[in-house]
Parts: sequence; C-alpha cells; structure tokens
Amino acid sequence: MILSDMTLFSSLLFSSGVDLALCSAKENLNVANCSAFFLTPAIDLPYNAQVLDVSAALAKSQVSNSNITLNLCNVTVTYTHPSWNDKIHITIYLPETGWNGRFQGVGGGGWATSSGLSSLLSPVAAGYSAGTTDGGHEINSLSTAGWAELPNGQLNMPLFTDFASVALNDLAVVGKQITNRYYGYGPNYSYWNGCSTGGRQGLMMAQKYPTAFNGIHAGAPAINWPVFLVAEYWGQFLMNQLVRYPPQCVFDAINNAAVEACRFMDDRFIAQPGQCLYDPFLMVGKSINCNGTLVNITSDDATIVQKTWEGPRTADGTPLWWGINPGTPFDGLIDTECTGSVTNCTGNAFGIATDWISRWILEEPDYDFQSLTLDGFVKIFYQALVKYNAIIGTNNIDLRPFHHAGGKMITWHGLADPLIFPGGTIDYYRKAMAFDPETHEYYRFFPAPGVGHCENGNGAVPSDPLAAVVEWVEQDIAPDVLPAVTTDGTINRNLCMYPLASFYIGGDPTDVGSFVCKFVGDYIDNIISYADFVLNSNGSTIFV
Ligand SMILES: *[C@@H]1O[C@H](CO)[C@@H](O)[C@H](O)[C@H]1NC(C)=O
Ligand SMILES: *[C@@H]1O[C@H](CO)[C@@H](O)[C@H](O)[C@H]1NC(C)=O
Ligand SMILES: *[C@@H]1O[C@H](CO)[C@@H](O)[C@H](O)[C@H]1NC(C)=O
Ligand SMILES: *[C@@H]1O[C@H](CO)[C@@H](O)[C@H](O)[C@H]1NC(C)=O
Ligand SMILES: *[C@@H]1O[C@H](CO)[C@@H](O)[C@H](O)[C@H]1NC(C)=O
Ligand SMILES: *[C@@H]1O[C@H](CO)[C@@H](O)[C@H](O)[C@H]1NC(C)=O
Ligand SMILES: *[C@@H]1O[C@H](CO)[C@@H](O)[C@H](O)[C@H]1NC(C)=O
Ligand SMILES: *[C@@H]1O[C@H](CO)[C@@H](O)[C@H](O)[C@H]1NC(C)=O
Repeated sequence: MILSDMTLFSSLLFSSGVDLALCSAKENLNVANCSAFFLTPAIDLPYNAQVLDVSAALAKSQVSNSNITLNLCNVTVTYTHPSWNDKIHITIYLPETGWNGRFQGVGGGGWATSSGLSSLLSPVAAGYSAGTTDGGHEINSLSTAGWAELPNGQLNMPLFTDFASVALNDLAVVGKQITNRYYGYGPNYSYWNGCSTGGRQGLMMAQKYPTAFNGIHAGAPAINWPVFLVAEYWGQFLMNQLVRYPPQCVFDAINNAAVEACRFMDDRFIAQPGQCLYDPFLMVGKSINCNGTLVNITSDDATIVQKTWEGPRTADGTPLWWGINPGTPFDGLIDTECTGSVTNCTGNAFGIATDWISRWILEEPDYDFQSLTLDGFVKIFYQALVKYNAIIGTNNIDLRPFHHAGGKMITWHGLADPLIFPGGTIDYYRKAMAFDPETHEYYRFFPAPGVGHCENGNGAVPSDPLAAVVEWVEQDIAPDVLPAVTTDGTINRNLCMYPLASFYIGGDPTDVGSFVCKFVGDYIDNIISYADFVLNSNGSTIFV
C-alpha cells in the first residue's frame, strides 16, 4: 500500500469503514483483527516517521526442529523518516491463541539490525507477540558494503543512526501498538531479548529509551562498538607485523595448555581467566601434530598469543582495550587459512572489524591493511571514539531513568567469547556500579566462564536468561544466580552475579549444589588495568 491508499483507508475508517470492521470483527475476530484494514491507518511513529505500507495476514509457520505449527497474524509495517530517505520494515508476529500478554522485541546480530523473521518463532511459540526490524538495510552480518555509502559517496549516517538506536525505539512503539490493536488490550509487559548486536540494542534501549521495555535481556553486548571493533583487528595486525600466520592448531595447542594449567578439577574451561597467568612462551619449541604434519611452535607464535590476550597497546605499553581471555578459540578474530599445507597460511580477518575500520572510520573501502602501522592503529582507535561514540558507543552508565521507570535488565557474557571482549562488559558494569551503588537493584551482570559468543564453548551456558528477567519484572524476584548448563548437558552450574564467582565447597563438581557464589578476586584486574579514558554519564568522552 502506498501513501495515497493510506489516505483512502483513513477516510474510510472515519466514515462507514469503522462499523464494517467492527461488524466483521464480531463474526470472525481473528480474520478481522489480522487485516491491514483493521491495523491502518493511524499507526503512530516517533520522529514524524511516515507509514508507507501495512500488510497483515494470517499465517502458519513451523518451528524448526519441532512438529509445532504456529498460527499467527503476520504484520509488516513499512515506513520512512522522510528527510532520511530510509525505508524500514518492522515485522510483528502475533500468536492467534495462547498469547501471554507480553510483547517481545527481538534483537539482531553483527551488522544486522534483525536476526531474521525466523527469530520470531520461538518467542511466538512461548506465547509472546514478537517483533523485529530490518533497520532499513539488508540482513548482511559481515559487511555494510551494500549500504555504508550514499550514491554521492558520503557515509549513510541516517541508516547508521537507525541501526544504532532510532529504528529500535520505532520497533517498540509499533510493536506495542499492533499488539494492542490485535488483542484489544495490552501488552501487559514488554521485553527486549538480544545477544551481541542484540545485547547492544538492549542496552541502547535502557540508556536512550528507558520507558520502552519493562525488562531487557542484553547478552554479550556489542557495547563500546566504535573501539572494540578496532580492537578486533589487533591479532591480525600482530600477525602482519611479524609476517607469521600460524595454523589454528598452534593456537589450539597453547590454549589447551593454558586451560590445563588454570582449570578447576576436570573442567575444560577456565573459571577465572583474569587470574590465569599462564605463559605462552612455555610452549615455544614444542612440536605439535597439525593434521598429520609436525609443526614447531615459535617465539613469534607465543608473542602473537601473549599480545592477543593482553589486548591492543600503544607503543609505550598503554592499554587501549581488552584482549580475548586465555582458553578462548582464535578462529574468530585471529583466524588463519592454510592452503595446501599447514605451513602455508594467511590471515583471515573478521569482516565486521575490517568493514568498520575501512568504510566507517577511514572512509576508504579499499584500505590496504598491510600498510597499517602501530601509530596508525592507535590513531584509528581514537578516531573511532571521537567520530562515533556519541551515536553507537552504547556506554552511557547513567541508567537512572531506566531505574525510575521500573525497568529490570540482565546481562551475561561468556568469558571465552572469541568475538566480543568480556573485559569491555565488565568495565561498563563496574563503571555503572561506581556511578550508582544501587545498580544491582535494576541491572545485574553474570559472567559465564568458558562460554563462547552468546552460546557454545565448554562452560555452562545460561538456560533461559529472559525468564529470569520476566520473573524479576512481574514477581519482583531478583535473580542472584542464572541457572546454566554445558552444551553437552553434563555440567550444571549457577552463574554468579558480578563480582562474585562460583566457589567449590565440596561434592560432585558436575552438581550445582557443590558451589556457592563468593568474591574470589576480580575477573579482569590481573589482565589489564583500565583503558586510559573514562566515559562520563552523558556518553561523551573525557581523556584522563
Ligand atoms: C510474513 O510476511 C512477510 C512479508 O510478506 C513474509 O516474508 C514472511 O514469510 C511472512 N511470514 C510467515 C510466517 O508467513
Ligand atoms: C515429529 O513427528 C514425527 C511423527 O509423529 C516424530 O517421529 C518426530 O520425532 C517428531 N519430531 C520432533 C522433533 O518432535
Ligand atoms: C493482562 O492484563 C489484563 C488487564 O489488566 C488482565 O486481565 C490479564 O489477565 C493480564 N494477563 C494476560 C496474560 O493477559
Ligand atoms: C480482536 O480485537 C477485539 C477488540 O479490538 C478483541 O476483543 C478480540 O479479542 C481480538 N481478537 C483476538 C483473536 O485477539
Ligand atoms: C585440519 O583439518 C581440518 C579438517 O579437515 C580442517 O578443518 C582444518 O582447517 C585443518 N587445519 C589446518 C591448520 O589446516
Ligand atoms: C622442530 O624442532 C626440533 C627440535 O628443536 C627439530 O629437530 C626439528 O627439525 C624442528 N622441525 C621443524 C619442522 O622445524
Ligand atoms: C599457498 O597458499 C596460496 C594461497 O594463499 C596458494 O595460492 C598457493 O598455491 C599455496 N602454496 C602451496 C605450495 O600449496
Ligand atoms: C557532557 O558532559 C561534559 C562534561 O561534564 C560537558 O562538558 C558536555 O557539555 C556535556 N554534553 C552534553 C551534550 O550534555
């Protein structure tokens, strides 16, 4: 439906159309409620955005890996922020039966504002009306090549701003409205659910649109976006400097040795990576079997590992950001590809990071990363901060408006996350706590030892963090721990609320009751001190 049709519908609604709609609604509630006619025209959007089209149709969908068929109303709202020239699609799925009274906004991943329509199915199966937004750009998680530049060559700041924040609030506003119209009341509660980019989006909502959601699950949040994405290139930079690209089996061997040295009992992960002082140079000269070829670990290999764990530093050793923790796979950021033999490898940089540096920071899509120097790296780091922190830093520690609105939020982060440095999340939470000692009354953080990016790894993954948020919001039961289980189902552990950690008190170590939460030292102090800047409460940056 285009704009002129909207006007037509508008006039219909204010004449006889409204009676017709209500009439048919009585005869066949579902069909009537799930029609564009019933849902248009007056969908209110913030920022004078204009609705271009609304479509609604009953649909059936199969939940993957199950025999569950969902009957739902499928609503798509297409709209634009007029002077921005964007065109955004919001999709809301509303369960025909068994609605639980709640709306759920579902987050995206990487460069994608949405994780796709299939991400709405399990919320719908759980009784939520659920919505997602494409943010006005295609689902493409590794590169923004399709939308970073406008035809005139300038950066597409409107779409970037949609991605950063604006489209997310639009989703909340539209999702709640559509839900209310379809069921005739509610939603009683609204929740945000996301990890990675979805986690960043959750924190953005709490920071910038504090009344949009009652509860937020913000997992492994991609906060500090401008700088952590630069830090993601650090390992590749080190390899370029040394012109040494080890096969992954070398990194795996060093990681395995670190886990062996620092693990608790038979765990296959490190509970306290901040206190794991394993020295990768212990592995230099060791010969390892790499797909049938013996490879000797060199001191350059150990240097790459050590500096990757440390995180990026300036020439005088000042830390810029955190690194990945010992025990974390290198094949996410410090990936190498070997052709023909394990001694013939090259670096395989993470596309989100290189896209960020070349397109968005340097505005040079064809940038030659081989020419990057340490000074250049440091300069890019600060350039990113100055240019983008206000838009997408998502590191405002003043959550008082969210608190005053009654919001509740949970973040967890895998300490073996290969893509987003847990140190950045720990740092944010520490600063939030320092700013407001009551933070835990509305925002709790649970480090997840041995867990990868939003899932996987050898550690215990939280089973249902959103359920803990819902319980907190609706029953005022604040979670002290998050129940978690390893992917293979063998170990149950409770994740402790930061800064506490799981402490063994005896018994079967696969049993949740063998541990209590206790302060046993901080998670990051031993790796790195603070990065040399602080973020003040309005999100601007003061260098110290
Ligand atoms: C909902 O509508 C969109 C847009 O037409 C479509 O792409 C999607 O497949 C529909 N979903 C279902 C479950 O039918
Ligand atoms: C789906 O149903 C078939 C037949 O009833 C059954 O064999 C299969 O195990 C079911 N699959 C799942 C994932 O429940
Ligand atoms: C939502 O709120 C309404 C009105 O307060 C109430 O009747 C209803 O039971 C609540 N819960 C659900 C699941 O709809
Ligand atoms: C359709 O909307 C009406 C009123 O707006 C409401 O009473 C009814 O329960 C809704 N139907 C469904 C299936 O939710
Ligand atoms: C070793 O073999 C596996 C399986 O074929 C492959 O995935 C991996 O990339 C190889 N490792 C190296 C370092 O070539
Ligand atoms: C690996 O190191 C051993 C002992 O230091 C040496 O004998 C061997 O030649 C080395 N192998 C390779 C492939 O460099
Ligand atoms: C080494 O890798 C390059 C690609 O990086 C490939 O073109 C070349 O053929 C490989 N050499 C051997 C000996 O396999
Ligand atoms: C943010 O805070 C800094 C320092 O307190 C102040 O100089 C600046 O004007 C503030 N910016 C805004 C937009 O409020």
